[in-house]
Amino acid sequence: MTPESHSPTGTDGPTLAPPPGCPAHGTGPGGLRRLYGPEAEDLGAVYEKLRAEHGPVAPALLHDDVPIWVVLGHGENMHMVSTPSQFCKDSRLWTPMLDGAVKPDHPLMPYFAWQPICAHAEGDEHLRLRGAVTGAMSTIDHRGIRRHINRATQHLVNQFCEEGRADLVGQFAEHLPMAVLCEILGMPEEYGDRLVQATRDCLKGSDTALASHAYVMEVLSRLAVRRRARPEEDFTSHLVTHPAGLTDDEVREHLRVVLLAAYETTANLLANVLRMVLTEPGFRAQLKGGQMTVPEAVEQSLWDEPPFSTVFAYFAKQETELGGQRIRKGDGLLLGMAPGNVDPRVRPDLKANMQGNRSHLAFGGGPHECPGQDIGRAIADVGVDALLMRVPDIRLACAEHELRWRSSIGNRHLVELPVTFTPKSQQDIMERPSVNPVRRQHPNDWEISPERARPTVPAPAAPADEPASAPTPSSGPEPARPSGVLRRLLRWWRGE
Ligand code: HEM
Repeated sequence: MTPESHSPTGTDGPTLAPPPGCPAHGTGPGGLRRLYGPEAEDLGAVYEKLRAEHGPVAPALLHDDVPIWVVLGHGENMHMVSTPSQFCKDSRLWTPMLDGAVKPDHPLMPYFAWQPICAHAEGDEHLRLRGAVTGAMSTIDHRGIRRHINRATQHLVNQFCEEGRADLVGQFAEHLPMAVLCEILGMPEEYGDRLVQATRDCLKGSDTALASHAYVMEVLSRLAVRRRARPEEDFTSHLVTHPAGLTDDEVREHLRVVLLAAYETTANLLANVLRMVLTEPGFRAQLKGGQMTVPEAVEQSLWDEPPFSTVFAYFAKQETELGGQRIRKGDGLLLGMAPGNVDPRVRPDLKANMQGNRSHLAFGGGPHECPGQDIGRAIADVGVDALLMRVPDIRLACAEHELRWRSSIGNRHLVELPVTFTPKSQQDIMERPSVNPVRRQHPNDWEISPERARPTVPAPAAPADEPASAPTPSSGPEPARPSGVLRRLLRWWRGE
């Protein structure tokens, strides 16, 4: 990116370019706005200023005043991710990286540094690596996973339901995705506080991030070695045995990508949806009244607060034009999900309900579009639904303005979500399906998702190897029912 390309017209007019480094304007060299430091505490506001000044693609500065384009328009973001002939994710093309402007200790280096993973690959290599990931994902039993999400939710709620208060970030949103991912990857025994803390630590980049990263990689390496020696029926085994022939390093790196990308985003999504339900009265009323389902609420949250606000980064493979800007070969561009989702050309009224519309940018798009989105959605849909069913009178335990957020260019997430509710007794998470439906305490509360349209059974799942003939009712005598119904219920329960 060069100074003369900073103006939408190609000539830097005086109104667009305050003196270099002018503190009064909160800008850096070349009059460009910074996406870091005190000027960028409210990045949403910075993006709107950039949009007003430059249109749908704007020049800005990353840490160390490294230049980058921010793609603010919905259509421009879609065009960029869907045009691999012009834009790719290979940072080895990035001019500031090649000319040494990006130093090895740049704070964003972990995101920029090229790695042999599908998220950075392109062409045939991307197809090979991504094919192995999506091939392994296609073997996931989605019904079984939904039951696991439900059971893990019951387990987490049991830990705090008798207290009448909880922090839904620390005690719920940060745990549920890890419990589910450990199950998917094939290491349920590794799920626990240590892995949750270590993964969070890696992502925060704290002083202990390196040690935490080493611990996570050790867990994943052990898993990969075990499955290479003896494959089972899980994601990791299918990744190892996929015909793409991933090496041990590639398997480990892709387990890391899946674990870290899936964990952080899904934890953010859960916290965001719960915050929205708790603080926006219209939402809660619509959910209770049945005008909105939890999956629709999740989709609305993906529009309003995408779990990744931007993705580092796309790179121009040749000179081109985007959103009226002249983009040079080797320029870097931030995929702007948060600003793209509020582009006034697609959302003139930000308060309008998106009614389950899925054309937001939260999962990116094009060849790199998130392959795990159904899993992320399932964790949020089932987890939020099941939580609200257990504690329907849940409410925020502080004023909304007291909620604290942590922001970076990559994401913005809640630090805590304190809630109170009427204390509840624990629920037996190993209860078996009952043909005698258990009455809920609040039959109309949260009676919303398609999940609820299914046979009414207590939340938890029976072990998969349960004998087919003996579903013990969890309460009351078993009423006489046609055995066909029972068999169908059991088959559904097992996901057969
Ligand atoms: C709400 C949850 C999630 C969100 C918001 C999300 C978002 C994203 C985004 C924005 C990208 C980059 C797209 C691009 O560069 O154009 C991505 C890529 C990816 N995501 Fe997700 N993700 C989520 C959950 C998951 C889950 C659950 C998994 C796996 C189980 C997963 C696995 C991946 C992988 C492997 C890639 C790289 C794909 C490639 O480059 O070809 N994600 N995700």
